[in-house]
Amino acid sequence: MIDGDKVKEMIKQATVMLDQAYVPYSHFPVGAAILTREGKIFAGCNIENASYGLSNCAERTAIFKAISSGYRQFDYLVVIGQTDQPITPCGACRQVMSEFCQSDMPVLMVNSKGDWVSQTIGQLLPDNFKPGDMEYGKQ
Ligand code: THU
Repeated sequence: MIDGDKVKEMIKQATVMLDQAYVPYSHFPVGAAILTREGKIFAGCNIENASYGLSNCAERTAIFKAISSGYRQFDYLVVIGQTDQPITPCGACRQVMSEFCQSDMPVLMVNSKGDWVSQTIGQLLPDNFKPGDMEYGKQ
């Protein structure tokens, strides 16, 4: 069970990221924060590119910051957007989450009005392609 104050802090840090987002093309800022097993929070924003397909979502920025800082186990993820309904992660981010997080890890999806929905990664991406799936064919 995640501490409520920790979740509030994650929402705060993800919200700050809305101002860091580099979104000259979509004008759609997104913020995210991920909690390591050790209790450290990494926050990220979306970073777009003139070559649109190279844009990186907020969730992946947060995850990659944590991974590149040496963390490998995670307990919670928050994503926030200025949407009517709580924002929902794209398919690419769901796949990246499923690489590094247990399928029962909760993802809190929030909008700027404070509405939220919580789902596990397993709910967001059932039957994911996971590292162990490459065992077949190995000599
Ligand atoms: N985006 C995210 O950063 N996270 C999401 O969950 C949904 C979409 C970004 C990608 C792009 O920069 C912009 O939002 C519009 O799709």
